[in-house]
Amino acid sequence: MAEKIILTGDRPTGRLHIGHYVGSLRRRVELQDSGLFDKIFIMIADAQALTDNADNPEKVRQNIIEVALDYMACGLDPAKSTMFIQSQVSELTELTFFYNNLVTVQRLQRNPTVKQEMQLRGFNDADGADNKAGTPVGFFCYPISQAADITAFKATTVPVGEDQEPMIEQTREIVRKFNSIYGPTLVEPEILLPESAACLRLPGTDGKAKMSKSLGNCIYLSDSADTVWEKVRGMYTDPLHLQVSDPGHIEGNTVFTYLDAFCKPEHFDKFASCFLGKKVCFEFHSLEEVKDQYRKGGLGDMMLKNFLNAVLNDTLEPIRQRRAELEKDLPYVYEVLRKGSEIARQAAAETLAEVKRAMRINYFEPGVIEELIASRKA
Ligand code: TRP
Repeated sequence: MAEKIILTGDRPTGRLHIGHYVGSLRRRVELQDSGLFDKIFIMIADAQALTDNADNPEKVRQNIIEVALDYMACGLDPAKSTMFIQSQVSELTELTFFYNNLVTVQRLQRNPTVKQEMQLRGFNDADGADNKAGTPVGFFCYPISQAADITAFKATTVPVGEDQEPMIEQTREIVRKFNSIYGPTLVEPEILLPESAACLRLPGTDGKAKMSKSLGNCIYLSDSADTVWEKVRGMYTDPLHLQVSDPGHIEGNTVFTYLDAFCKPEHFDKFASCFLGKKVCFEFHSLEEVKDQYRKGGLGDMMLKNFLNAVLNDTLEPIRQRRAELEKDLPYVYEVLRKGSEIARQAAAETLAEVKRAMRINYFEPGVIEELIASRKA
């Protein structure tokens, strides 16, 4: 049977937050521990991060270790998953160069995620003549480089958030095109999306559609318990729910979205007893019961936020502790990345050799010179 291989990754532009966790990290660890996959590659996409951070390489450089710490704190295990740094696998750029010929400018312009990101970064605002605005070519083409990331490892499965769907679609197109021109060489990957709507795109603490560093609405995996409580306390809920007795809304209420993403049945046993250290009891046995009560009225936001805080910390505390342990031995964490990059490089080099063979640009492989001479038209 064909091998089952995972590749996925993140841009190291900041620490990872709980949106990354429910959207992808948690799943990766489950997949890793499921034993269903032959190989797992987790890439820190520094080269991709540089496509819109060319003037700030230090930010990217500093965040590599933060992302690696977040990975390992969440349970990614170097014995089971190869964690590596994209820029250290130069084969990826070579593949990108060849794939560039298989994609049109028009097709890239239609990629909805790239379009949206260009808007967000103001890349459309000027003609780019002064190099201050405008779209860096590398950024515009990053879906092609992402296809190289995925195909270099013959990935069959790419667990990512839904914003990455257009990238996987473009990758599949590139694979089909390559294979139809040069013969079957590359593997068409499948996307693996998060299981629930709440996990697909976790909103920010301010209720805005996306949790993002630039919006300042993130809860980071590395936040202290105090910081998490501060952020939870300030969270956006239901603006119409003014008094405890008022009926409240669940839809668009960020606290409930987070509960949907983080709450587990065991949390009701664990946290059912007194909250706030006062006499008030949180007597519910399921999230449905909590929602019903909130809809009817009589459940205050503070009570609810205390429950969410307990639920969040139940997940975050072990991550925090592992992170603190790992931080005591940073050379070890860098060593994991160095070794991982070496393993990744070998895998990518094999694919690159096959690609060059398929494209018939393998002039100096054994026997090829003889073949070239014999086929020469005099
Ligand atoms: N584009 C992804 C992100 O922004 C990072 C990434 C780069 C990636 N290459 C990849 C994800 C390949 C999955 C597969 O998070």
